[in-house]
Amino acid sequence: MVPAPSIFVGLAREKEQRRLAAQAALSQFSIADHYDVMVQLDRDVHDDEKLSTTEVDTALRLMSGVPRSVFLPCFGTGRHIQALLTAGVQRIVGVDLSPKCVEKARALCGGDHRVELHVGDLCTWTTTEQFDASILLGNSFGDIINSEIFPKVTQGMVRPLKPGGLFVFDYIGRGYLDRCRRASTTVWQAILDGRPVEDRRTPRYDPETWVMTIDVEAVAREHGADNVLWRGFYQKLILNDYWLDCHFTRAGISLRKAGVATKVNEAYYQGHVGELGMIARSTWWVAHKPPERQPRPWRLPRWLQWLRGPQGG
Ligand SMILES: C[S@@+](CC[C@H](N)C(=O)[O-])C[C@H]1O[C@@H](n2cnc3c(N)ncnc32)[C@H](O)[C@@H]1O
Repeated sequence: MVPAPSIFVGLAREKEQRRLAAQAALSQFSIADHYDVMVQLDRDVHDDEKLSTTEVDTALRLMSGVPRSVFLPCFGTGRHIQALLTAGVQRIVGVDLSPKCVEKARALCGGDHRVELHVGDLCTWTTTEQFDASILLGNSFGDIINSEIFPKVTQGMVRPLKPGGLFVFDYIGRGYLDRCRRASTTVWQAILDGRPVEDRRTPRYDPETWVMTIDVEAVAREHGADNVLWRGFYQKLILNDYWLDCHFTRAGISLRKAGVATKVNEAYYQGHVGELGMIARSTWWVAHKPPERQPRPWRLPRWLQWLRGPQGG
């Protein structure tokens, strides 16, 4: 008879294979198109200086110091750049897919010689430069839902790290699934193309593929009726802590959980009123790229040292 644990392991493996196959068949939502619109709809977050500054303080505290150089994957509108420079970072290189986000970030940085910003895809973008740290904030992890592309993006985030370097990121994980179950719509006031709109977002979750989809509508209230000016959606691949750890272990990186945003960044959330959606419910993580092992010099075993003959001196 097969022992019970093997059955469970076998079933879990089979389930993972089914899930990976389902994810491999998923088509990727257009990240650049979505975030090009978010430059307008997420402006309240992008322009919240206290949020960006306290997030940078939190990242530096988790790294126990100010790194000399920082890689900024998915920097968006660049809301963390100024605070990093003020803290003493001397070199920042960023990559983001959304041309509109990068345009806003470049305008903010005003050609600072310490900052280099690229429009690019982390799946394919490479550099020979190595950085002390990589920082990914604003809940950017998990935008790639296809299981074949997802590991390539993670590699793109950590490859430019020096051996021994640190990667700090926040990730929604399962922190929004209660809202998916309730299908609760959150409403923000925003401006789209100069018109005041209600930005309405409703999350849902597919347990077969582990993909969370957030349907977004920008609605203008005109003459007492709803006029939908824009409709779209974005998605997140939802890994629990165990699978997140497996994902990083496969990439050769060790992971440590720092805590939920409201706890690690108390300076911002204590006394904060207002709805911040996923950012407030994300968990912060610190990943460590192992230092390079120095090859030990090869030596003859003691009992064979007579082979070298008599030593001079
Ligand atoms: C949720 S936004 C966060 C932006 C910024 N970090 C912040 O805190 O405001 C995610 C960003 O990741 C970028 N992004 C997602 N996938 C990417 C990829 N494969 N390569 C480069 N950028 C990507 C998007 O264009 C978007 O600007």
